[in-house]
Amino acid sequence: MKHFINLKDIPAKDLRKILIEAKRRKNKRKKLNNLDFDKDAPLKGKLLIQMFEKSSLRTRLSFFLAISQLGGKTLTLRRDELHLSNGGESIKDTAKILSNFGDAFMLRTDSDEKFEEFKKHLSIPIINGLSPSSHPTQILSDVYTVEEIKKKPISKLNIAWVGDSNNVLNSLIAASIKFVFNLKVGCPKKYQPNQNIMNYIKKNKGKISIYNDPKKAVQGADVIFSDKVISMNDKVNKKKKLDYFRNFRINKKLMRFAKKDCIFLHCLPRGPEVDEKVFLSKHSKVWQQALNRIHVQKSILLYCFGKLR
Ligand code: CP
Ligand code: NVA
Repeated sequence: MKHFINLKDIPAKDLRKILIEAKRRKNKRKKLNNLDFDKDAPLKGKLLIQMFEKSSLRTRLSFFLAISQLGGKTLTLRRDELHLSNGGESIKDTAKILSNFGDAFMLRTDSDEKFEEFKKHLSIPIINGLSPSSHPTQILSDVYTVEEIKKKPISKLNIAWVGDSNNVLNSLIAASIKFVFNLKVGCPKKYQPNQNIMNYIKKNKGKISIYNDPKKAVQGADVIFSDKVISMNDKVNKKKKLDYFRNFRINKKLMRFAKKDCIFLHCLPRGPEVDEKVFLSKHSKVWQQALNRIHVQKSILLYCFGKLR
């Protein structure tokens, strides 16, 4: 049994195995419907329990289809219906019940500490479906999408991020270290990655540069990533923060600094950080990106269940 909490704690060879299995399974499903099982239905009889303490559309749907295609089922718990949420039950007791009733637990939460606390008391795998400091299932899937579209290992590509230094960027930085790719980050000085992240980059000799000019960040890029400037539960003066990012908007003018065949990716939902014209252009691969979450999360589930070849 393995947990999937942060990319930085998972060996690079396991992350690569997850991507290889995702590709193999995706290729085999071309003629199947969403709810058809993969032929081997390797998680038949297994229950994935999901809990979202924050909103979600894609993660919820993609985990539902992922476990379904592997032959299992999912149950989504509503935060407001649990004793845990109003202080009526401990994580310890909740974890015991989850372990007795289910086979894996996917959690989206506002507290990184909760993963550690749950991990201590669960006897089933826990998967991070987004935390304040990371979004690992998203970024692993995005690495898959980049390689699928570019038909090259990501280590041979120039990746740019233009946007806030948030959970999604943290996971992209971890991916850049695990998969050894160049990453240029463009963000206002005030919103650069924090000292812990900078130390992690330094310690692991990451190929990551930070620019306060978006043009420099996207120069020669094969891929430009972005995300919302205001994340869920971001307790900031929204107007002020958006003002800082005014010059970091991804528009056609900025795209011209990247390679001609540069693609645009965004985990969604989007905000004003990307211009509608770019978002709807042929460079934008956001719908393919969202759908690939199903395939990569199937592999993540298999990894957690110890069933990855
Ligand atoms: N990208 C992503 O995680 O989307 P949701 O918040 O809708 O799950
Ligand atoms: N950074 C965003 C990602 C949403 C999928 C947030 O945390 O709200």
